[in-house]
Amino acid sequence: MGALGRNAEVGVIGAGAMGAGIAQVAAQAGHRVHLFDNRMGVAEEAQRQIGATLAKLAAKGKLDASQAEAAAARIVAVHAIGDLVSAKLVVEAIVEDLEVKRKVFRELEVVVAPDCVLASNTSSLSITAIAAGMKHPGRMVGMHFFNPAPLLPLVEVVSGVATDRAVAQLVHDTAVQWGKVPVHAKSTPGFIVNRCARPFYAEALRLLAESAASPSTLDAVMREAGGFRMGPFELMDMIGLDVNFAVTKSVWEAYFHDPRFTPSMIQQEMVAAGYFGRKSGRGYYEYASGAAKPLPATEPPHPRPGHVRAAGESSLVAPLRERFASAGFEVVQVASDSAIGPAYFAAGDALLVPSDGRTATGIAVACGNANVVAYDLAHDYRTCTRLAVAAADSCSTAAASAAIGALQAAGIAVSRIDDVAGLVVMRTVAMLANEAADAVTQGIAAARDVDLAMCSGVSYPRGPLAWADAIGLAHVDEVLRNLAAHYGDARYRRSPLIVRRSATGGTLVS
Ligand code: NAI
Repeated sequence: MGALGRNAEVGVIGAGAMGAGIAQVAAQAGHRVHLFDNRMGVAEEAQRQIGATLAKLAAKGKLDASQAEAAAARIVAVHAIGDLVSAKLVVEAIVEDLEVKRKVFRELEVVVAPDCVLASNTSSLSITAIAAGMKHPGRMVGMHFFNPAPLLPLVEVVSGVATDRAVAQLVHDTAVQWGKVPVHAKSTPGFIVNRCARPFYAEALRLLAESAASPSTLDAVMREAGGFRMGPFELMDMIGLDVNFAVTKSVWEAYFHDPRFTPSMIQQEMVAAGYFGRKSGRGYYEYASGAAKPLPATEPPHPRPGHVRAAGESSLVAPLRERFASAGFEVVQVASDSAIGPAYFAAGDALLVPSDGRTATGIAVACGNANVVAYDLAHDYRTCTRLAVAAADSCSTAAASAAIGALQAAGIAVSRIDDVAGLVVMRTVAMLANEAADAVTQGIAAARDVDLAMCSGVSYPRGPLAWADAIGLAHVDEVLRNLAAHYGDARYRRSPLIVRRSATGGTLVS
């Protein structure tokens, strides 16, 4: 079917934050845009704002001045749904209310031509439900942009039960023509991103609930070891705790209270207190003028141990071994003991073991060596500036100090956290991959598209599925099994895809 012709007119209903952004994107792509809002003057104001934004981009040299002017001139504010009569695609971005959206689409259907594609920018409602009762539900599709629409590349193209394939493909190809990164998704609660991102917040909240570490420590570890642009608490403060809690609750309710998505008591308490994040001046952090951001817990300097030995080989050990070698350690290779794990280090008297979802104490008990220090996952051990570690309850002070000192000698700041299962980045990434794998298993999106959506929609440093492959699927499977055993909680049940692929030595996307 191909993309919508550039001469085709586009209608946008709702001229708020999203509608205005979508109108700008369509106009910049060369379409004439009719913009409608049922509040008097709102479409005109949005049109004026878009003109000003485009002029500013031209003044900064980011856009050709004549192109900016032409794009602004292509947007027309209109005053009735009837004025969308010649549109070939209408994107709706009005209030998030199923009945109101249904009413608007029913009105629209009798106005536009039979081949006009009708799209909703809804972020939480079912496309199937919006289309129900329409005369031609096959032309109804989700076109889910991210905020701000002119800047963020991802568009989830969402098909409901009745959506025609050709219609979804046209919207997909049109999004490409508009310079976006579209992915196909089935209409299910949260679509791809809002569902697959839940563990990013949920694991951090669980760690906070277990008093593993402070929000600033957990955020620093997720940024500096995990490679995420923002930590989960910083991000929740920016999104708004009320909004984040509402999305969490709606996904949990929509999945019939699946424990995977159970919200946190902490979220509920913070919202009840009116701590909504940046917008209310207080969330997990304080935003009053002069309020200093608390520093992450960072170990003071520890002495460098006399030796570091590497036992076994794995993707979690090899790059760190290089780093120890660069720090001047002569890293002798020895055989590994499978009770400890396939690969780990000995630093002084300590065993420095990559987290496998057990607590350090659990590993110590299993291998009969008291001095176990577990270390967290890093997005890239060669360049990370911080790592979280946890020492077994039985670990001696001298052994813990040797493990920390070795990492510090390699130029890594160390956040020592309580001895929780799976540490921070490891359990979060394992659960992100688990959720992504379930979305694939359930046919919501293709594996590559899930990874693409998480990288271009929420700027993850790596797609969760490709990340699991890089860690080694067998290890991710083990982390999940150990978390499930530790908590006895169905939240940590493994995705059938991970169970199957790891059993045969397969991968998720690679
Ligand atoms: P908004 O409140 O900024 O704008 C909504 C606009 O729709 C308002 O100007 C309002 O006057 C207008 N409107 C309401 N009912 C109308 C009707 N019956 N006919 C015509 N115009 C009507 O809301 P926002 O944030 O732009 O969200 C719009 C839609 O986009 C919602 O479905 C939301 O879930 C979705 N969305 C929002 C994102 C966000 O971050 N704000 C991100 C992605 C999707």
